[in-house]
Amino acid sequence: MDARSIIAKLRQSEVPTREELIWFAQGLADGGVSDAQAGAFAMAVCMGGLGAQGRADLTVAMRDSGEVLSWDVDGPVIDKHSTGGVGDCVSLVLAPALAECGAYIPMISGRGLGHTGGTLDKLEAIPGVSTQISQDRLEQILRDTGAAIVGATGQIAPADKRLYAVRDVTATVESLDLITASILSKKLAVSPDALVLDVKVGSGAFMKTIEDALQLARALTETANTAGCRTSAVITDMNQPLAPALGNALEVAEVMKALTGAACSPLAEISAELGGVLLSDAGMCDTVDQGCAKITEIISDGRAADRFGRMMAAVGGPVQFVDTWARFLPEADVIQEVPAPKDGYVTAINGEALGLAVVALGGGRQVESDQIDPAVGVSQLLRLGDRVAKGEPLAFVHAAREDAAHRAAATISAAVVIEDRPIAVPDLVHERITA
Ligand code: URA
Repeated sequence: MDARSIIAKLRQSEVPTREELIWFAQGLADGGVSDAQAGAFAMAVCMGGLGAQGRADLTVAMRDSGEVLSWDVDGPVIDKHSTGGVGDCVSLVLAPALAECGAYIPMISGRGLGHTGGTLDKLEAIPGVSTQISQDRLEQILRDTGAAIVGATGQIAPADKRLYAVRDVTATVESLDLITASILSKKLAVSPDALVLDVKVGSGAFMKTIEDALQLARALTETANTAGCRTSAVITDMNQPLAPALGNALEVAEVMKALTGAACSPLAEISAELGGVLLSDAGMCDTVDQGCAKITEIISDGRAADRFGRMMAAVGGPVQFVDTWARFLPEADVIQEVPAPKDGYVTAINGEALGLAVVALGGGRQVESDQIDPAVGVSQLLRLGDRVAKGEPLAFVHAAREDAAHRAAATISAAVVIEDRPIAVPDLVHERITA
């Protein structure tokens, strides 16, 4: 086998065989395939597609290009993946709630990318927390606390790492087949018994229309199920941030509010929906509705909060974090109000612009080596449909310096649209695609 003939097949609209895709993925991982060949492969797949079977074969080949983890635990291993959005801190609410139900959740998460924040950066806003731990320690924490949210250990899907970097510079990120293989190769390497995908749609998400989100959700669920992992998807709204705060410590504060009493928060609602689907797929309850009710109960009676505290203590966080969390989270030096420019109703929120404003404040990275300031961000952001009078706060900016706060305030003011008449606020959950 050689890369040239595999690429030539794709150019002629033929799908390579499973063996050829395994060979190509190994070549991506061990350097046997050059950058030029990887780029030509990505472009050929982007133009011609692989079809459902080819997509599943590429996904499995990329999963098997590195380490595939296995677990010695006495309950189902389950996981959730979000396609990424602004203010999306659902994992921090959902993982402890699922662990409290008796499942095991080895959640390998990422750092901030573009305008969307990263789960690991959020957790590391808690003093002492370290998300880079060894495989042995991960397994021990999983047995002790049921859930661990950590960075990738060892060699998870190295073919994806290589291909993703090539796609990024060859205008080939936007291929349904390549996105699917990329996301799932990493998730399936954790060997979950069931997986739920939170496919976000709206101004703050990767997918801006329901049609695109549905297409991605179908490709992901079909491929993961073909690869042998029971997988469902939920399409959820990202036309406004899920929590009224953006920024690492500020989002952790919202998680703690959701876990310690604010029963109707959108974070708790989405967690219940995703958790209900997972518990049902994993055979831990009879129906999705039963699963949703169980997660809601566990969040509102404080059990998920206690479990979150144990999870954080296991990775170096303060033992008393759950009881006195506000005391531990870093605070910015400058907190500035963003006044509404006129009377009216909030009719649109440009989530991407808000996410980029947080990056500019230092809450995300412009380049990979940037250090994050965990304290900066936006808080008390109004929600779609809220009524506001001129001069009342739209939000508060948290910044390290006055000049940065002024710039962010101007961006937020432009990102929140106020009109005379209210709009119909979109539902949080648009569609469920079950396995
Ligand atoms: N996230 C990934 O991991 N890969 C993609 O291709 C897109 C989003």
